[in-house]
Amino acid sequence: MLEQFAPAKVNLTLHVTGQSANGYHLLDSLVMFASAGDHLTFEPADELSLSVDGPESGAVPTDGNSVLSAAHLIDPQKSAHIHLTKVLPVASGIGGGTADAAAAYRGLLKLWGLPDAVPNAETFAHIAKLGADVPICLFSQTARMSGIGEKIEFMPELPALDAVLINPRVEVSTPAVFKSISSKNNASMGTIPSNFIDQVEFITWLQHQRNDMQDAAVSIAPVIEHVLAALSATQNCQLARMSGSGATCFGVFPSAETARNAALQISRDYPHWWVKSCTLGA
Ligand code: C5P
Repeated sequence: MLEQFAPAKVNLTLHVTGQSANGYHLLDSLVMFASAGDHLTFEPADELSLSVDGPESGAVPTDGNSVLSAAHLIDPQKSAHIHLTKVLPVASGIGGGTADAAAAYRGLLKLWGLPDAVPNAETFAHIAKLGADVPICLFSQTARMSGIGEKIEFMPELPALDAVLINPRVEVSTPAVFKSISSKNNASMGTIPSNFIDQVEFITWLQHQRNDMQDAAVSIAPVIEHVLAALSATQNCQLARMSGSGATCFGVFPSAETARNAALQISRDYPHWWVKSCTLGA
């Protein structure tokens, strides 16, 4: 059976550098993909349909889903049955629906015998019709994203990171967070060094970067500050920051074992939060 993995997208940095004439915001973001994510399978069928299961399937619509929009974007005449196993929380800043749409696009091209997408400006502009974050998710590789999300520069040389993802079970509206940002003209990341000697040097550089949506998201959902504090309070946490427009936050740890231990401790202390240890950029 044809399968695709839809990894969580983590914005290690997210600088808001301006606003374009159509109201969309200009971003400068370093994105890595996680070993945690949703799973999709694809089968030939007489109609286009979607079924969903998995621990996070409760809030997922089977009509009007981003997965079906991806099918329509390729060819509204074609059919398939798609099954989605939902592991990532919805509307959570780690690209759940976005990653699913990108994975559906990849899977359906294969199922329908069409050529794989090639990473060029035309592809990114086309797939951006499904959402500003879909282009970065199409190839699931560490990349710098700019423009409103359609400019992608792959950065394969960056060290992988061990991390913990936490969602406090609060849905945050992306447009509402964008509206609440106090300053929309912030500095970009500048040049990202390509020769970090090790993980520690990379993390030190990350500590000097920002998520410019974080304060605005905290003002809407104060529990995000609580999540960041819980991560920072664990032993060995080297960096705690929000991803995307929230509410999911990530913590970076020196090893897979320290990340797993932190995830266990936080799951025990906050049993209603969604907590996952994972590797980023591997
Ligand atoms: O394109 P997408 O549906 O993912 O975006 C959701 C909303 O987030 C948009 O309607 C827009 O209000 C906001 N957005 C933005 N600037 C971006 C991406 C999204 O203002 N670069």
